[in-house]
Amino acid sequence: MAGIIELKNISFTAQNRRICRDLFYEFDTGKTTALVGPAGGGKSTMLKLAAGLAVPDSGEILYKGKNVALMTRKENLEFRREGAFVFQDSALWANQNLYQILDLPLRIHFPAMGKKEREYRIEAVAAEVGYKKDMSVRPSRLSMGEQKLIAFARALLCRPSLLYLDEWTESLDETAAQRLIRLVRRRRDEGVSIILVSHDMRIVRELADVVVMVLGGQIFLRLTREQMDEDEDLRRYVEMGMAS
Ligand SMILES: Nc1ncnc2c1ncn2[C@@H]1O[C@H](COP(=O)(O)OP(=O)(O)O)[C@@H](O)[C@H]1O
Ligand SMILES: [Mg+2]
Repeated sequence: MAGIIELKNISFTAQNRRICRDLFYEFDTGKTTALVGPAGGGKSTMLKLAAGLAVPDSGEILYKGKNVALMTRKENLEFRREGAFVFQDSALWANQNLYQILDLPLRIHFPAMGKKEREYRIEAVAAEVGYKKDMSVRPSRLSMGEQKLIAFARALLCRPSLLYLDEWTESLDETAAQRLIRLVRRRRDEGVSIILVSHDMRIVRELADVVVMVLGGQIFLRLTREQMDEDEDLRRYVEMGMAS
């Protein structure tokens, strides 16, 4: 099957620093790919490039074979609805309350959906991620972990077929982290394509079909789950690279 997202010869500069150069990678459809590697290696940048949230200096990003930069407005909106992102820092709008934050993507992507249905979906998704508190407060009132729950709820709301997850269980206690891992596993089993960044080897081993090590803005190593399972040395090597 063709890749869901293809990075073709991507170079990316930020503040006069070359972060990626000549990057090629095809993310598998319906699979879970884990980007791993040391801090500052370029994992978050690669994830944003794949989501069309960072614009490369050169090269092409293809979603289902279509160049993201050349999409019509309608195609672009579809790309945004089908893919959902959880940012490393949650990135919730500071001046909106939680309900409004969750309501907005539904209003954008499902303009015909009634208020009742939106309310139902928001309540369901909040319950699913395990957020039980007041929805009328702003994000600044929440702990980092609670912000992650809302960011994840926002990502699930429009029932994406592609999930981008940047350290999405960070700052969560064990029970909450387990719950989010379970929720992602369920999506994975339903055929959702997932690209995640994690430095937690347990999550990687539990969820990833493919492990990609990112170093210096480049893909350093690509391993399948089978290769990881078979070869303990390789697994240790990846663990060492993740910890450094
Ligand atoms: N907007 C930016 N401006 C300047 N430098 C950036 C920017 N985004 C990322 N970088 C740099 O690019 C490198 C890779 O960053 P990042 O993708 O966040 O790495 P990771 O997620 O693997 O920790 C780092 O050295 C970081 O400082
Ligand atoms: Mg990062």
